[in-house]
Amino acid sequence: MSHKIAVIAGDGIGTEVMPEGLRVLEAAAERFNIALSFEHFDFASCDYYLEHGQMLPDDWFDILSKFDAIYYGAVGWPDKVPDHISLWGSILQFRRAFDQYINLRPCRLIPGIKSPLADREPGDIDFYVVRENTEGEYSSVGGRMFEGTEREVVIQDTVMTRTGIDRVLKYAFELAAKRPRRKLTSATKSNGISITMPYWDERVKAMATNYPDVTVDQYHIDILTANFVMHPDWFDVVVASNLFGDILSDLGPACTGTIGVAPSANINPEGRFPSMFEPVHGSAPDIAGKGIANPIGQIWSGAMMLEHLGFEDAGKAIVEAIENVLKEGPEQAPLTPDLKGKGDTQALGKAIAEALSAG
Ligand code: NAD
Ligand code: IPM
Ligand code: MN
Repeated sequence: MSHKIAVIAGDGIGTEVMPEGLRVLEAAAERFNIALSFEHFDFASCDYYLEHGQMLPDDWFDILSKFDAIYYGAVGWPDKVPDHISLWGSILQFRRAFDQYINLRPCRLIPGIKSPLADREPGDIDFYVVRENTEGEYSSVGGRMFEGTEREVVIQDTVMTRTGIDRVLKYAFELAAKRPRRKLTSATKSNGISITMPYWDERVKAMATNYPDVTVDQYHIDILTANFVMHPDWFDVVVASNLFGDILSDLGPACTGTIGVAPSANINPEGRFPSMFEPVHGSAPDIAGKGIANPIGQIWSGAMMLEHLGFEDAGKAIVEAIENVLKEGPEQAPLTPDLKGKGDTQALGKAIAEALSAG
């Protein structure tokens, strides 16, 4: 039986890193004898919007529901389509409609990459951000009133549900319980956001009683961002609301050298709907078209996809191939400029695919 993957490259560097992600997935499929079939879609991109006046075809839900997973590049091109239209019309829509309530974002300093934080070595930074992915600050509840007048009012509510919080906390606690350090950090802001965030803290406390072996701490998001920089070694599993998780999952990878390597898995743990795998980064208009985007975030996301589909060995082998190429350093390996190298997107993708096939 072939595993069906919907491929959406999207915009900007999404179209450049996706072929490298697929190159490595094909190498993994061959080495591990996995049957994967890819179907490419041009929707959920700004060019599709310019042609059709909408980001998605009317039957997108039925089309994508039939796949085992969605492999996404990046979306957004603010000069063509306002970001809130392109993003709410694509990735944010998928996360909600397919109930991908977990956004799992590993963050690890890999040998061969220099952290911008002085004296940080591999091993010092190795944690997961578990981001709530379907509610919270990303809500469509609100409105704009008295537009254009001096009394103009704009409101956007945060929505937190007990079910929504508890399910992401449960996932994060389970993950922490499986890791050697068994530590969970909760991102909060209950000193200032006085209704939703105290509720979040309350649910963390309640969930913690089920996991006596997991050490729990919490920080307000302001000092937590500072601690990511000052003490990244404190963290193991960090659980956060939608917005806080978004911020932490760019900051964490930045501390590991570049956001270009960071992967993410948008997971519907029950498997009722397809899960979606995409790099953390966006379409990077500033470097798009130059062929220098780092493809590792896309490739590593492919590894997470294979693990999710049950091919743990293949996923691990891809990560090992990434590590083997990176540890050669920018003089030997064709690393991209964000890794201080002189290589390009394709050369780095090829090097990783070759390392995987050789392994
Ligand atoms: P971005 O992640 O696209 O870029 C931020 C910076 O990081 C840029 O300087 C860029 O060159 C660099 N960068 C990003 N990925 C890189 C890579 N693989 N290799 C090397 N350098 C890389 O964030 P942005 O500039 O805020 O957003 C650009 C567009 O992408 C916007 O439309 C935004 O809404 C969208 N976006 C989409 C996603 C997504 O599809 N999941 C995520 C973030 C932003
Ligand atoms: C991400 C992105 C998206 C988010 C944007 C593009 C809507 O930043 O996947 O991290 O905020 O979730
Ligand atoms: Mn983000």
